[in-house]
Amino acid sequence: MKDRYAVVGNPVEHSRSPAIHAMFAQQTGQSLVYERLLAPLDGFEATLRTFVAAGAKGCNITVPFKFDAFALAATRTERAQLGGAVNTLRFDADGWVGDNTDGAGLVNDLQKNAGRPLAGLQVLLVGAGGASAGALGALIHAGPARITVVNRTLDKAEALVAGHAHLGQALHVGLAAATLADAPAAQDIVINATSTSLAGAASPVDARVLKPGSLALDMMYGPKAQGFLDWAAAHGAEPRDGLGMLVEQAAEAFLFWRGVRPDTAPVLKAVRQAIEAAP
Ligand code: ATR
Repeated sequence: MKDRYAVVGNPVEHSRSPAIHAMFAQQTGQSLVYERLLAPLDGFEATLRTFVAAGAKGCNITVPFKFDAFALAATRTERAQLGGAVNTLRFDADGWVGDNTDGAGLVNDLQKNAGRPLAGLQVLLVGAGGASAGALGALIHAGPARITVVNRTLDKAEALVAGHAHLGQALHVGLAAATLADAPAAQDIVINATSTSLAGAASPVDARVLKPGSLALDMMYGPKAQGFLDWAAAHGAEPRDGLGMLVEQAAEAFLFWRGVRPDTAPVLKAVRQAIEAAP
């Protein structure tokens, strides 16, 4: 019998993860199946326990269960602990291990796929919810000069920065928190980690945060990201959607489960083609 994995969420029917992991498995010769698992909003743990009883080896977790997954993990990797959320579980015999591969996925996409080494750069992280929390630690590890977290609710940006202050100091990365209106100008990298794109809004921050040659990434992809990407391009920045991040976080999860790192380039290309054909 093949090892079983799944993406667990609500909703989950549009997830591209099964296609991505099927390509990784084929490419690396790993024998596994990866499915979609819709968990009722009040039934995340029960869904996982049934899946584990059926012999499952691990899962990815998506909205809105990343905090529940964090609570259910018996042990957590350092990066999951720092982000306060778990997007990957491995069901080891002696307990469930929680990891968070979102931040590494984002940084790998920026540095490897987009060709933007972060060392020494000015980075603006827009939003202070779960998506930002998962990303900030990995961004700090990449060694930019400064990361400013801006958010509609200032308290949340301040709390996120405070939780990472020790890491920032240790790695000599400047950290600051501000409101959306006080976002600093002329940033090298602007990352939209708010859920505003879900409502089709262009950008929660003013265009002065950009400069010629900035890279502006939205963690979403498809029609949800389009408003932000159009806004970025209209102001001379290089727009980038979240598809590369999605494939890279999946590769990190695959490595966590199987001990093998897949080659993401052909998979990203194939997923992009699939999305362009059927958004
Ligand atoms: P996620 O897990 O996707 O990050 P979340 O934890 O609910 O979801 O966080 C959503 C983020 O989008 C927050 O930073 C939120 O700002 P607040 O903390 O002030 O709520 C931000 N956000 C949502 N709608 C927004 C809007 N209309 N304008 C600006 N920011 C918005």
